[in-house]
Amino acid sequence: MTDSLISPVPELAPPRKAPQAVTDLVENIERTWQFARPYREEVEQEFYRLLFHLSPSAREFFPVSMQAENGRVVRALIRVLRLVHRPDDLVPVLRQLGRDHRKFELHPSHYEAVGTALLGSLKHCLGAVWTPEVERAWAEAYTLVARAMQDAAADAEADGVEPPYWTGTVSEHHRLSWDLALVRVELDQAMPYRAGQYVTVEVPQRPRLWRCLSPANAPRTDGSLEFHVRAVDGGWVSRAIVGHTQPGDVWKFGAPMGCLQVDRESRRPVLMIAGGTGIAPIQAIIDDLGRWVDNPETTLLYGARHWDDLYALDRLYSFSTSNPWLTVWPVVEDTSSTPDAEQATTAEAVTRWGPWTEHDILVSGPAAMIEATVTELLRVGVHPSQIRYDPFLTA
Ligand SMILES: Cc1cc2nc3c(=O)[nH]c(=O)nc-3n(C[C@H](O)[C@H](O)[C@H](O)COP(=O)(O)OP(=O)(O)OC[C@H]3O[C@@H](n4cnc5c(N)ncnc54)[C@H](O)[C@@H]3O)c2cc1C
Ligand code: HEM
Repeated sequence: MTDSLISPVPELAPPRKAPQAVTDLVENIERTWQFARPYREEVEQEFYRLLFHLSPSAREFFPVSMQAENGRVVRALIRVLRLVHRPDDLVPVLRQLGRDHRKFELHPSHYEAVGTALLGSLKHCLGAVWTPEVERAWAEAYTLVARAMQDAAADAEADGVEPPYWTGTVSEHHRLSWDLALVRVELDQAMPYRAGQYVTVEVPQRPRLWRCLSPANAPRTDGSLEFHVRAVDGGWVSRAIVGHTQPGDVWKFGAPMGCLQVDRESRRPVLMIAGGTGIAPIQAIIDDLGRWVDNPETTLLYGARHWDDLYALDRLYSFSTSNPWLTVWPVVEDTSSTPDAEQATTAEAVTRWGPWTEHDILVSGPAAMIEATVTELLRVGVHPSQIRYDPFLTA
């Protein structure tokens, strides 16, 4: 586990002025988390020990080897709780997360056990720092978050429209390069996602390990979803998908999540910035916009380490010739094999070109790329409210 996985997300929108009680709560959480941080592996171990002791049935949600889980849930929980001072950003995410968690068919006692295990594991590692005031702060934050998720799940249940999860069958799997696969899945039941959203996915080769993937196409009436999956070094799920997916495999999906979208009505120009497979949700949005002739002027800055990694470029160029509202600008970090290419990271490219002060901006890609690019956009004077990206609650 690396430290960056639990570092704060960049401060985007200035948070709505939080009431004093919330400020105190957050200060207590932040202060004690800084104490607990060096012991996070101990916190993680103690969390799972307590959770499975308090709720043996919760063990079934996790993989046989907890090594593969690698503390993801407890890290995600702490990350979410540290955002309670940003309700405008957090509440929509929690509502989506609550709907996503319906895939586990949780009982309220599971939420209680997770809360108790989290507080118990922090207390175990914090010793004298764990005062009644600190305990109250973590408990209140957890209660707020858990309630928002459970309410959203209950609302979805009451609507009776969405299943707790979706299934689909792989109809196509081919490699776009040695470490990248295109996978097409035919859903068994319509999924109401918006182009640009992502879903959590469970594949048969890696039971009970859920990963976020972004459909690369706008919703289709035939229910087909296209995914681009890159195998990462040491990756449990991505390597299994790229190396071992077969037509006929059944994939399971949680409810759609994410905030990437274009407001066509605003008529403001759009800047899209994509790195790696972060092009997938951007391609879905472009696919969706392609249904209209009249779209905002859109610039896509598409970056990768090497030219060959810009796997979607030909398709995007060909789309832009018949859709003049779209301009595609490729950038690569390493130009040794393509000296004519524009050399830059996406963060450098946004400062080289621009200004972007009139644009609605979408950023999509690996967490580090989003963080660097957003930081640079803010530095050159873009207002936080102009920028959209999905929060990295996990890694
Ligand atoms: C909102 C969102 C949308 C996503 N959409 C896609 C998508 O469309 N296509 C896709 O291929 N992936 C996508 N991802 C990434 C995906 O969810 C997984 O994180 C990724 O496939 C790695 O999972 P794994 O199980 O193979 O690796 P893990 O076993 O979880 O991790 C193994 C090692 O790889 C490192 N690692 C994890 N992810 C990355 C990464 N992206 N780059 C480099 N190192 C990494 C970890 O820190 C760890 O050291 C998305 C992630 C998010 C948050
Ligand atoms: C306030 C309560 C909770 C919050 C904020 C929360 C948050 C999250 C987040 C952000 C993820 C990551 C999504 C992903 O990348 O897969 C996640 C995954 C998960 N959560 Fe929760 N969760 C909560 C409650 C629970 C409960 C009660 C359980 C069950 C006991 C649970 C079990 C899981 C599991 C099994 C995963 C998938 C982990 C993986 O395979 O990577 N969560 N949760």
